[in-house]
Amino acid sequence: MKVLVIYAHPAQQHSRVNKALAAVAKDVSDVSFVDLYAIYPRLDLNVDVEQQRLLDHDAIIFQFPLMWYSTPPIIKEWQDLVLEYGFAYGHHGEKLKGKLWLSAVTAGTPESGYGPEGHNRFDLRELLAPLEATANLCKMPYVPPYTLFAALKSENAANLEKHIAGYRLLLEALRDDTFDLDKACAQQLITGDTIKGLIKGKTT
Ligand SMILES: Cc1cc2nc3c(=O)[nH]c(=O)nc-3n(C[C@H](O)[C@H](O)[C@H](O)COP(=O)(O)O)c2cc1C
Repeated sequence: MKVLVIYAHPAQQHSRVNKALAAVAKDVSDVSFVDLYAIYPRLDLNVDVEQQRLLDHDAIIFQFPLMWYSTPPIIKEWQDLVLEYGFAYGHHGEKLKGKLWLSAVTAGTPESGYGPEGHNRFDLRELLAPLEATANLCKMPYVPPYTLFAALKSENAANLEKHIAGYRLLLEALRDDTFDLDKACAQQLITGDTIKGLIKGKTT
């Protein structure tokens, strides 16, 4: 598959995790990478360019830090402008049909803070439901988010390393068609702990 990573971090100078993940995405051969804030610091997206990017790829990955339980604003702007009627949905709007939609999300709060018992009250998959509904409307299979919780905790270094290495595995597996989509879609979230089990032919 042709893989496109659409990256959005509004304060990249303060980023630790996404900067490292972005470096991986840029390093994996035959994976396209676009940094939305670098190209469009004023959010003046070029719709034709962005639509063509989508047409040229089969798996679309949105990489971002969770901000106020949602995406950074440029991803919402991107959705509003790029996913046009007649292109992404509506009459004759099936140009994205069958392309995978996957979010690669980092969250500052530990996993225990999510879900009905957590202080955030909702689980992450629920909070990202607008993305899932958008993918559904565009007839794009929605892959559970590749997620890192507790992204701010320095004691989480081992987990962070696993997550970064897992991101490379994920991108390579999508590119090489060795990603087990059915198995992945049966999960709530994908993590650095579960990614290896979702790659065909990978035992460890
Ligand atoms: C404005 C803002 C809003 C945030 N909102 C959330 C949030 O709703 N939930 C959460 O778990 N973390 C939240 N965070 C923490 C970020 O998700 C976290 O800093 C980021 O994932 C770490 O990645 P980075 O090192 O690439 O910045 C927020 C951070 C900022 C700056």
